[in-house]
Amino acid sequence: MRAVVYDRYGPAEVLHIEEVPRPAPAENEVLVKVRASTITRSDCGHRAADPFFSRIWTGLRRPKQRIAGMELAGVVEEVGSAVTEFEVGDEVFGLRSGANAEYVRLREQGALAHKPASLSFEEAAALSDGASIARACLAKAELGPGKRILVYGATGAIGTAAVQLAKATGAHVTAVGNTKNVELVRSLGADVVLDYTREDFTKNGETYHVVFDAVGKHSFRRARRSLRPGGVFIETDLGFMWHVPFLALATRVIGSKRLTLPIPKYTKEDVAHVKQLVEEGKYRPVIDRTYRLEQVVEATRYVETGHKTGNVVLTVGGAAAEGES
Ligand SMILES: NC(=O)c1ccc[n+]([C@@H]2O[C@H](COP(=O)([O-])OP(=O)(O)OC[C@H]3O[C@@H](n4cnc5c(N)ncnc54)[C@H](OP(=O)(O)O)[C@@H]3O)[C@@H](O)[C@H]2O)c1
Repeated sequence: MRAVVYDRYGPAEVLHIEEVPRPAPAENEVLVKVRASTITRSDCGHRAADPFFSRIWTGLRRPKQRIAGMELAGVVEEVGSAVTEFEVGDEVFGLRSGANAEYVRLREQGALAHKPASLSFEEAAALSDGASIARACLAKAELGPGKRILVYGATGAIGTAAVQLAKATGAHVTAVGNTKNVELVRSLGADVVLDYTREDFTKNGETYHVVFDAVGKHSFRRARRSLRPGGVFIETDLGFMWHVPFLALATRVIGSKRLTLPIPKYTKEDVAHVKQLVEEGKYRPVIDRTYRLEQVVEATRYVETGHKTGNVVLTVGGAAAEGES
């Protein structure tokens, strides 16, 4: 089968298409013929070994996992002997490393669910990563009716998911994005939309139970005055901010406002939750551009600008090759 492979850490250009053996599913796994996958910021971080210490998990000298990608949607091609939930021909979506390929095997009990019938494969491929990270982050927030949350960086994969997940709890959602995306973010359910190019939310006197920095461009120190007593600042991007874990520990014992940095796990519950929200009409994946698998380097360069809106999709195999859209 064809797959996007990299054998050393480096820039987007280390990615290339290679013929590799097709995986065989174990007894508790399914083999999925991938129709669409994505390129996420996590994929880029793994490939570039950024931050450097991520090599502890991805391989000290070279990548342990040669095939890129994590998110996918496709059709079940084979099932292991112990699998009961899925059958050959089922349309599914989920998360498993090595997803930028023609075939991927996934555990039945892993982050795998039936594809919502209303979504295309391209849309379903973009359902898992942003929503799983946003869900892990918002789990720290105890949201619901009467709670007010501000999502900063509401236009990324995580931000567009966070706005919709927060709204689905009944919370009042303020979303911060840039001018070109004000209408998009409003259409995702935000009650108030602020344009960060024109307004600094920390100076307008509003306060929130939760401030979620979904893009890693804000800080607890600057957002503190916008938090209510007992409020939580949720950080998603550790980057080079080495002080963040220490500050998170310190704010547990000092002061009434807390900083937290959740570590997402990508579970079956995550994908089941987003599938349910799609079926209830409360969630839709936002797709910025679609590329063919062969355009992976170009697509990756675009993701690495840090300015994509929602998700960037790769079409795979027999899927209609739309090219850049
Ligand atoms: N915790 C984790 O496990 C984890 C996993 C994956 C990624 N991350 C991190 O989470 C962050 C977001 O990921 P993502 O995939 O959602 O990113 P993304 O899709 O690249 O989105 C970033 C969004 O933020 C907007 N933005 C850029 N600069 C901004 C600013 N100064 N103020 C407000 N918005 C701004 C961008 O749009 P405009 O530039 O057009 O405004 C873009 O839509 C990344 O930093 C990533 O490294 C964390």
